[in-house]
Amino acid sequence: MSSRPIIPHSAAPTIGVFDSGFGGLTVLRALVARLPHAHFAFIGDTARLPYGSKSRRTIARYAVESAQFLVREQGAEFLVIACNTASALALDAIQAAVPVPVLGVIEPGAANARASSRTGDVLVVATDATVHSHAYAAACSALGLRALEKACPLLVPLVEEGWTNHPVTDQVIRIYLDELLAEAASQDLKPDTLVLGCTHYPLLRPLIERAVPAGMKVIDSAESAADAAVLLINGKNETISDSTALSGGASRVSPTAKVRCFATDSVEKFERLGSRFLGRPVGNVELVDLGG
Ligand code: DGL
Repeated sequence: MSSRPIIPHSAAPTIGVFDSGFGGLTVLRALVARLPHAHFAFIGDTARLPYGSKSRRTIARYAVESAQFLVREQGAEFLVIACNTASALALDAIQAAVPVPVLGVIEPGAANARASSRTGDVLVVATDATVHSHAYAAACSALGLRALEKACPLLVPLVEEGWTNHPVTDQVIRIYLDELLAEAASQDLKPDTLVLGCTHYPLLRPLIERAVPAGMKVIDSAESAADAAVLLINGKNETISDSTALSGGASRVSPTAKVRCFATDSVEKFERLGSRFLGRPVGNVELVDLGG
C-alpha cells in the first residue's frame, strides 16, 4: 500500500464511513481515536440490515446508494466501507460509483493476518455472503496465506440483541469455533490466527479470545482498516493498541472529533445501541431515506 498521502490538501478531511448497521461504528471508533481532527459522516443502513444474507446484486445496490449519499450530500473526500459484507461483494461497484478513494476492510484484515501468522494458515469468521464470496480467501492467498472461512450467521443477531456477554452467545461461539477447528484439522492446516471478518464481531472479542486455542491470535478487521485508512490519509502509520481503542479506552476516543451519524431506520434505536459500538454517545442521529 502506498505511503503517499492521498488527501494532502485537507488538514481536516471529511471521511465517510458506511455500514449496513451499527457494527461499523467499531471501525468509526478506531478511526476517531487515530484521526481526532478529521470530520466523520457515518451512515448505517439499518432499514435494510442484514446484508450478510443477501445477494451480491442487492448488496451492491444498497452500498452504492449509501456511498453516494456520503460523497454527494456529506462531502466525503474519502470513504471507508466499514462492512465486511459490502467490502467483499460491492467494493468494485462502489469504487466505480464515486469519484473519491474507497477503502474496504478485507485487504487490511488479510494484511494484518499475514503480519500475525507464523504458520501461514489462518481462520476467518464472517457472514454467509462474505464467506461465499471467498473474498478473504482470495486476499489471504494473494499474500501467501491459506485461509479457511466459516459463516457464523447467528452472531450478528446476538450482538444486535445486546447479548455480547451472554452464556448463549458463548456457547454459540464455541460450537462454531469447534466446527471450524475440526475442519482445519481435517485439511491438515495449522492455523495460528483468527480474523474477525464481520464488523459486529469485535463486540464479541472477549468471548472469542476465551474460546480459541491458547496462543491463537485474534485479528480485528476494524482495527486493521483504521490503520490502513490513517496510512492512506496521513502517509504515515499512527497505530494505537487494539485494547486501548476498542476495549473501553474511552479517554483515547476523542470526545471532540466531529461525528455526524445517519441511519435509514429508527434513530432512537441507533442512539441507544450505537453508543455500545462507538464507545461514547452517538449524539443526535439523523434519519435518511435512501429508497427501497
Ligand atoms: N456489517 C456486516 C458485516 O460486517 C454485518 C451485518 C450484516 O449482515 O449486515 O459483514
